[in-house]
Amino acid sequence: MRIAAPIEIGPLDADAQQAVRDLAQAAEAHDGVAPLSEQPLLNLGTDAEWITHVVAHDTAGSTVGYVQIDRSGETASAELVVHPDHRRNGRGRVLLRTAERDATLPSRSGEPGQQGKQLRVWAHGDLESARGFAAASGLRPVRELLFLARPLPAVDGTPEPPAGYHVRTFRPGADDDAWLRVNARAFATHPEQGRMSLDDLRARQGEPWFDPEGFFLLVPDAPQGAGTEPDPVAFQWTKTEPGQPDDARDGEIYALGVDPDHQGEGFGRLLTEVGLGHLARTGATRAVLYVEGDNAPALATYERAGFTRAAVHVQYARP
Ligand SMILES: CC(C)(COP(=O)(O)OP(=O)(O)OC[C@H]1O[C@@H](n2cnc3c(N)ncnc32)[C@H](O)[C@@H]1OP(=O)(O)O)[C@@H](O)C(=O)NCCC(=O)NCCS
Repeated sequence: MRIAAPIEIGPLDADAQQAVRDLAQAAEAHDGVAPLSEQPLLNLGTDAEWITHVVAHDTAGSTVGYVQIDRSGETASAELVVHPDHRRNGRGRVLLRTAERDATLPSRSGEPGQQGKQLRVWAHGDLESARGFAAASGLRPVRELLFLARPLPAVDGTPEPPAGYHVRTFRPGADDDAWLRVNARAFATHPEQGRMSLDDLRARQGEPWFDPEGFFLLVPDAPQGAGTEPDPVAFQWTKTEPGQPDDARDGEIYALGVDPDHQGEGFGRLLTEVGLGHLARTGATRAVLYVEGDNAPALATYERAGFTRAAVHVQYARP
């Protein structure tokens, strides 16, 4: 055994959260891909029954490794990173072992639904180091998330919705509940997006990138005399991180959802064009998005819209 990695399990105070963000940035600068995705970064300050933070320190006390385990879904999901200067020293192995114990042990409060879950570990970018580490740890790929991209601008005009429908932008607060309903229906089988709660939505509304002008709803026209508007049947949520250079700016098709009762009616295609038009008008030079590797209808929609594969993210698990 080459190291005795001091491991700390528990909530992170503000300094510890910053140390994890710095560690993630050092790994991104080295690997060319961010090791922690959006939700784990939003969760750094969360102290709840369903989440565990594990930090590895070196002998000087610096944060050199981190794993976050989220047990709120059907499987436990982990994101794991070791500082580039401290790799091949057994820390990844210790963090993975700790995460596996955490996912499978009964919860302290005895809360149902949190015990004995399979652990799934994300490898963003499917790096050489992650592949070697996964193979050495007996993990196999179980899910692929594709990152697609296409250049902008290449969109003319604003597409018209079909008769009986209109496109309007999202009104924070007023549209929250109706959007959560259509999102849950559209993503009923998606392990993360379909479980989005009001708290998750509000957390995103508080992010610097959140812009309701880039969040579109396709809504049936209200019947005459009806007091309330019907729920949207589809939505297109775009996201552009601030602070990107003007000549290389990514705009993301962040979430595109169509109510299952209205799938196959061309709404996905229409709202993709609406989203691309918006991103091009706001100065994005490349449109990007994430899609499940086995989602053939979505992949076909995006390939038709000119997207090609730019990266792949893989989830590993023990067979
Ligand atoms: C993957 C990662 C967490 C490994 O951390 P680590 O502390 O270097 O891993 P360990 O030292 O515990 O390695 C354990 C074993 O994994 C294998 N391994 C680790 N890195 C490897 C590499 N670059 N190439 C081939 N095999 C590798 C080796 O068999 C190693 O044992 P050995 O050093 O005795 O040969 C780290 O490289 C990292 O942070 N990568 C970026 C983030 C990421 O992809 N996370 C997802 C992991 S599934």
